[in-house]
Amino acid sequence: MQKNILIGVTGGIAAYKVVEVASLLKKSGANVKIIMTHNATEFVSPRTFQEITNNAVSVEMFGDTANFIHVEHIALADWADFMLIAPATANFLAKMAHGIADDLLSTTMLAFDKKILVCPAMNTKMFENTATQANLSTLKARGVKILEPAEGNLACGTVGKGRLPEPQEICAEIKKILSEEQILSGRKILVTAGGTVEPIDPVRYIGNRSSGRMGYEIAKAAVNAGAEVVLISGKSELEPPKNLKFIKVEAAIDMREAVLNEFDSVDAVIMSAAVADYRVKNVSAQKIKKSDENLTLELVKNPDILKELGSIKKNQVLIGFAAETQNILDYANKKLVEKNLDFIVANDVTAEGAGFGVPTNIATIIWRGGDVETFDKMSKADLAGKIIERVADLLSKDKKFFPLTSNH
Ligand code: CTP
Repeated sequence: MQKNILIGVTGGIAAYKVVEVASLLKKSGANVKIIMTHNATEFVSPRTFQEITNNAVSVEMFGDTANFIHVEHIALADWADFMLIAPATANFLAKMAHGIADDLLSTTMLAFDKKILVCPAMNTKMFENTATQANLSTLKARGVKILEPAEGNLACGTVGKGRLPEPQEICAEIKKILSEEQILSGRKILVTAGGTVEPIDPVRYIGNRSSGRMGYEIAKAAVNAGAEVVLISGKSELEPPKNLKFIKVEAAIDMREAVLNEFDSVDAVIMSAAVADYRVKNVSAQKIKKSDENLTLELVKNPDILKELGSIKKNQVLIGFAAETQNILDYANKKLVEKNLDFIVANDVTAEGAGFGVPTNIATIIWRGGDVETFDKMSKADLAGKIIERVADLLSKDKKFFPLTSNH
């Protein structure tokens, strides 16, 4: 399980059992970090969790932020793929339900927008109290997963519902929740990203403003959804994402060759690369020296990679991008049809918060058949998630009618 799991430990006697949860998660390959509330530190020492996880344990809201790029609660919320709250006290459930942010853990929760599992553990009467049950209903309605407490002997001397489930059970529940997200499990996805580089001479080239960020986010989202991913990247300053096959290329013709090498074995191609439509006809072997004359470069047409894929595709899902500055829907629709795509992601690169080098995008998806979906401004990571959900949906529909490659 190669996930970043953040565990919030609140002040209940069952906190000691969470040491074992952290240990089991770590053994299964997860990266684990811990936030403890002040009350939790009355039950277990932060040092115990630190030794188990090999990571510093966070308790203070206004601790040392020197190691964080952002403030700590945001950095931790961004880092984690998943949050577990165990044990979750009645007080903490109430804070979560009402959005109260008065310490590091509750503040981090508010900044966290991915899957959460909460394991309430308390005295039976506190658990059954209408206020606690109402808070749990509120959390459930928001999509928070709740692992019901077990029945048995409680620390307060009574017998009833309120025990923290056993560590193995909590880990099994986490695995189950995370595997529900594996919507591309068993699928192979090819993503292209970045801009191609068309040489003029050994030191100069024709390039474009693509940062590669959209494609890299799509590749990451596909990996997180359980797919085997090949990322073919043109120019980009970004760090290659982990757990995928990364192929770096320069010119459009190299990208074409790399894409065609993979095409037969993939279930879907998402072409987010900014591929140059033209290249220099005669690339100079030596650096071109300036002269008093104007310089004219003759450009010849590059192959249209996506169009070629559209003409040879078997059952692969094909997704294109259209970066436009005007008549967005018309131009994008034309590309969708010409390239035989399943859908195209169009955006106005001149709009604020969309386009090159910014972390957000404002996209419209145009589907084969004419349906149009418009999205508000969102992070490229979130848009990547939406694209991946749609690709998974298309693949699961296809599967019902014609099996894809033989290994599925
Ligand atoms: N594309 C490609 N090969 C090319 C050019 C583009 O595969 N030689 C892909 C891009 O990755 C993108 C889509 O096609 O998914 C964009 O369509 P395209 O018609 O090429 O867009 P532009 O090049 O922006 O077209 P124009 O310059 O005419 O707007």
